[in-house]
Parts: sequence; structure tokens; C-alpha cells
Amino acid sequence: MAVDIDWSNLGFGYVKTPYRFVAEYRRGKWSKGRMTTYDKIVIPESAGVLQYAQTAFEGLKAYITKDGKVVTFRPDLNEQRLTSSLSRLEMPALPEGMFMEAVEKVVKANKDFIPPYGSGASLYLRPYMFGASNVVGVKPSEDYQFRLFATPVGPYFKNGVKPLTLRVCDYDRAAPHGTGNIKAGLNYAMSLQAIVEAHELGFDENMYLDSATRTFVEETGGANFIFVTKNGTIVTPKSESILPSITRRSLCYVAENYLNMRVEHRPVTFEEVKDFAECGLCGTAAVLSPVGKINDHGREIIFPSGMYEMGPVIRQLYETLVGIQLGEIEAPEGWIHEIDVQDEEEQPADEQAE
Ligand code: PLP
Ligand code: COI
Repeated sequence: MAVDIDWSNLGFGYVKTPYRFVAEYRRGKWSKGRMTTYDKIVIPESAGVLQYAQTAFEGLKAYITKDGKVVTFRPDLNEQRLTSSLSRLEMPALPEGMFMEAVEKVVKANKDFIPPYGSGASLYLRPYMFGASNVVGVKPSEDYQFRLFATPVGPYFKNGVKPLTLRVCDYDRAAPHGTGNIKAGLNYAMSLQAIVEAHELGFDENMYLDSATRTFVEETGGANFIFVTKNGTIVTPKSESILPSITRRSLCYVAENYLNMRVEHRPVTFEEVKDFAECGLCGTAAVLSPVGKINDHGREIIFPSGMYEMGPVIRQLYETLVGIQLGEIEAPEGWIHEIDVQDEEEQPADEQAE
């Protein structure tokens, strides 16, 4: 099927694709997963997700490589992270193999929506689970749904690789011993006012500091930080309350093993940020986006790498990571998961309700 999308001008938003994966957990048991064309969800008015935000999600991308293969990047790590999110929110684990079954089936079924190699776009996959049965007292749901949909996306930040401007945020994202280290929907709900306010003030994102002392750098609403010192060392903040980014872990590996750089994963004070040469935001959506400027209540920190383009070290990291993802550079063992989209299964007919 030919799809009428201007791949090079896609933003990071929802575009409906034909097929999604659904599995239900009822009376203590998972159903077999199935594919559906129906994009609505019918749940009771007092479902755990609606009343107490019992939901967690993941984000990963499918790409077409230089030699025409369809691949996903380290999906095993998304599966592992989802498992820890589910456990922290008292949701049942997925049956063995269901996460990858969903990834593979949704990518194959929506193969016409995978952006072409070289377009800069990709097929974003959103696995998620939520409490689907009634609760009134504060307790976990008894029933759940696991779903995965796909949507083609372009860059997360509108200006592409133009360096971003952040502000130091007065709201907190996560508490010590809270849920900052898992991908819970609630972490994003509480960041909405902060991001709306940041955008109204002309900033691209918020820099969150640790909520206990407000002296250490945590992360942004949707990405981890990577700093580069003046002598080229990569520094990434370590904290129990930030999301363990798969992109950040991959970039640190690439820095050490492909680019011979020194890497430090340690607590980073806000005070030392002014001394770094380069700064970037990394994540599945953000990839590695350069930061040019951070505004701390009127005091500006401007990274010497310049406001107009990526600094040299961030660029090297970016090009190596994207090269690996797109099959231009050999990947470390196990990083690239190929999906044979020719091996197509029968798809369901249109459904209106389930
Ligand atoms: N931090 C937050 C809060 C995120 O939402 C994301 C996105 O997934 C990341 C960091 C980056 O993580 P990853 O590289 O695994 O996508
Ligand atoms: C991702 O990078 O996959 C995320 O979930 C971040 C989100 C802010 C879009």
C-alpha cells in the first residue's frame, strides 16, 4: 500500500496506523495476544488507570537500514525496563515472549508506515499497560490490558539539530525513592504544567534538579543529559530518580569502545555545568539533541560549542549512534534486532467494537 506521508517533514506526533496489538489480563491470567484495527479502548469508569494513574509505557523505534532491512534497536532493554515499571506499579508481568511478539507483529503489519532510509524519520513503537478494572479504594486493579501501537515520527525537537535552550525548573519531576526511575505515566502528568510554562517562556525543555537538595542535575521531561568536559570526557548524571535511558547507556558504550573517550557516570552538581564544553539530551525520541543554553532564573550558561550547531564531540557521538542504528556502522553484538517484514501473517478484518 502506498502511504501519502511527507517523511522528511514529519513532526513527533500521532499518525494513526492500521494495526495494533492487544492482550488482556483477567482473573489472574493473560489472554493470547491479538492484532486489531480498532483504535479505541472501552474500559469502566472507575478503571485503575483513570482514577489512580496505574499505567506504564515504553518507547522504541523501527528503522529501515542502509541495506533495506527493518530493525529495532535494543528492544530487550525496553522489555527489561517495562518489567521493572510494571513491578513498581503492582501490575502483572507480561508472559515470556509477548513483548517481542507485539513488537514484531505491529512492525510487520504496519510495514508501509516505516519511513524510508535517509528520511530522518522512523516508526515509533509505544508499548503500554494499564489497570482496566474498577477501583475506588486505593489499590491495584484486578484486570489489565497490554497494548502496542505504532506511529511514524520525525524529530522530537522542532528545530532538528539546532541547539536547544533549557530553563532550570522550579517544579520537581521525581522524589527520592519515588517513581522517577521507571516509565510511569504519572511522571509525565506532573511535568505537563512545567513544559507548558517552559514553552510559553520560549524554552524548549526543563532541566530538573534533584528534589531533595536542588544541587544535582537530574534530567529533562523526556531525556537524560550528556555533558562533555573541556578535555573531551563524557559525563552523565547518576541518580536513583532518573530514567535509565537506553540511548544514554548505548552512547556511553559507543564513546568508550568506538571513540576511545573517557566516560564518567556520577552525580553532577548544577554548579559544575557552567564548566562543561558541550551538552546534549539523549533518548529514543530526542536521539542526541544539542543544548546551547541553560537559563537559571535569568543567569545564562552558554556552552562554548556554540549556539548554532552541534559541538564536535556530541556530533561524533550522534553520528556513530545513528550510523549503528541505520546499519552504516557495525553494531555491537545483540544491539540490532532484525524483523522480517516479508514474512507476513494474516491481518484481522476491520473491527468496530470488541
Ligand atoms: N528520560 C525520560 C524521562 C524519558 O521519558 C526518556 C524516554 O524514553 C528518556 C530519559 C530516554 O530513555 P531512552 O533512551 O531509553 O528512550
Ligand atoms: C521516548 O523517548 O521514547 C519517550 O518516551 C520520551 C517521550 C517524552 C516522548
